[in-house]
Amino acid sequence: MLEKNTQYRDKKTMLELVDIEPKGGPINQKNVDTEADLLGRPISAPIFISGMTGGHPETLEINKNIAMAAARFNIPMGVGSQRAMMEKDSLAYTYDVKKFARELILIGNIGASKLLVYDDKSVQRALDRIDADMLAIHTNPGQESIQPEGDLNFRGVMKRIFEVSRNIKQPVVVKEVGNGISKEVAASLNGHVYAIDVQGAGGTTWIGVETYRNKSRYGNAFWDWGIPTALSVLEAKSAFKGPVWSSGGIRTPKDVVKSIAIGAEICGMAKPIISSERSAGSDGVYLFLSKLITGVRNEMADLGFSSIKELSNAKVSFREPLNSILKQRRILKQK
Ligand SMILES: Cc1cc2nc3c(=O)[nH]c(=O)nc-3n(C[C@H](O)[C@H](O)[C@H](O)COP(=O)(O)O)c2cc1C
Repeated sequence: MLEKNTQYRDKKTMLELVDIEPKGGPINQKNVDTEADLLGRPISAPIFISGMTGGHPETLEINKNIAMAAARFNIPMGVGSQRAMMEKDSLAYTYDVKKFARELILIGNIGASKLLVYDDKSVQRALDRIDADMLAIHTNPGQESIQPEGDLNFRGVMKRIFEVSRNIKQPVVVKEVGNGISKEVAASLNGHVYAIDVQGAGGTTWIGVETYRNKSRYGNAFWDWGIPTALSVLEAKSAFKGPVWSSGGIRTPKDVVKSIAIGAEICGMAKPIISSERSAGSDGVYLFLSKLITGVRNEMADLGFSSIKELSNAKVSFREPLNSILKQRRILKQK
């Protein structure tokens, strides 16, 4: 599916409509510190790798290559849905990347609707089996609605998310898969989960993936359905008191810098990481991350920000139509 164009067609992240006011004149890159932290642990840049794969013997190599590159930069990584290993324990090794990268901050993954099937103990066991530090619960109604065998039973899912979050040891982040999270959904998660990972519109569309996979008649009509990433971050920040992560279509150092400036804690990426892994293995991912982090440092230097904390307090302005949408939705930048 990677060789197909499964990116949004007419919709962008809206990060292109965010402008950052420079803090002063440019500064020397040597004086820029990109270090951030997650769960009280330092990470070398406010970047993480979104969950993608696991469950098939071939995916061990991919997860291992990504994990080793992530560990070299000390940035967190997610695995793909752990459903396969929950159904068949013998597949757990395909997610078990900490044996190659002991210090990695690892994020487990399960679909929200699967929480109606699995009890809290099974979820806990799946996380402990791979020594995960967090759990990402993904919501993907857009994707499910295009799949012929899609699971459209979401009744009771919110209650299960709250229960799991309360009962497991690891902090929970609720993520989308590329359609974004609204302020209404963010408000309903407030106080129940640790973080929201918006995975908004502008990058990979799973409606697009399923349209190719299933030659769906409806897929094209909904291809671009979703809340652009920048808007989704601002929506979530306006209603949710915990950390909000920016993701979905993050591709460049500028995307990262703008995401932090509008209040995201960290930024996630999926497609560019798997593409670089497929083309050049762990070294490919390493090179991609190296260029990205250097680019973030350069951007920050040009704008006069010496730390991520300073950047997160940047003054920003919004171009149209983002500005009007934020007004219509009664959303202001929240720090
Ligand atoms: C190959 C691939 C597999 C993915 N598998 C999962 C998954 O198992 N669970 C999940 O929560 N998201 C999954 N995603 C979605 C990503 O985590 C992310 O939300 C989405 O791709 C948008 O980010 P991007 O624009 O950087 O690709 C997958 C994405 C890709 C590209």
